Amino acid sequence: MRLPAEAIDPFPNARVSGHPLVRHKVRLLADERTDVKLFRELVRELTALLLYEATSALPVRAVRFRTPLEETSGDEIAVRIGLVPIIRAGLGMVESALDLLPAAEVWHLGMYRDEATHRPVSYYNRLPATCPDDLVILLDPMLATGGSAADATSVLKAWGAPRVLFVGIIAAPEGMRRMQADHPDVPVHVALLDRELDADRFIRPGLGDAGDRLFGTGGPSG
Ligand code: PRP
Repeated sequence: MRLPAEAIDPFPNARVSGHPLVRHKVRLLADERTDVKLFRELVRELTALLLYEATSALPVRAVRFRTPLEETSGDEIAVRIGLVPIIRAGLGMVESALDLLPAAEVWHLGMYRDEATHRPVSYYNRLPATCPDDLVILLDPMLATGGSAADATSVLKAWGAPRVLFVGIIAAPEGMRRMQADHPDVPVHVALLDRELDADRFIRPGLGDAGDRLFGTGGPSG
């Protein structure tokens, strides 16, 4: 379900794509009939489309170079970029992001949401001592309570990341609210701002569990 524009107003840092390709693909992604192969492909495609929008104001610098015919000038990206997927589900977004930003460094954070408290638990962090990047792009398909993204952003800021962007796919209003409250300086790019969180803190109507649908672990024995 797509919320009307006024529902997005309280979240000035929300960047909800209105692109028809994004709207089409996120609908397919949410459909329960979408199998694991198509789900992965759609996550990759949506990541590319959202990252294209999220990087539209990236600084560039002019460089001189030669075409096969003559010397000329053009632009190159002028910032060092780090990609930080939140394991597990963020891993489904990394390769697509690297296709667009092949020079980016990839740093990993591992977090899972405790099933009883719904609070994020950090279990992996191999960030080096200091942040070498000018811009860090946090990748996680889901922003439910926002706890994982907000905690991860705090870790990145404490690490020294000068600028952080969040690129996800689906968000609940609660998650947007949490990011707005804790990190109003961090733009939150998603394909869809969904209706609500239910009592179990699942996004509704949602798309299920992105990690399970990416890695095929949502079955009866998963
Ligand atoms: C999901 C999702 C986010 C988090 C969002 O991960 O990928 O990381 O929950 O919830 P929040 O906004 O309420 O913190 P999950 O805990 O299911 O772990 P997984 O990626 O390993 O499946």
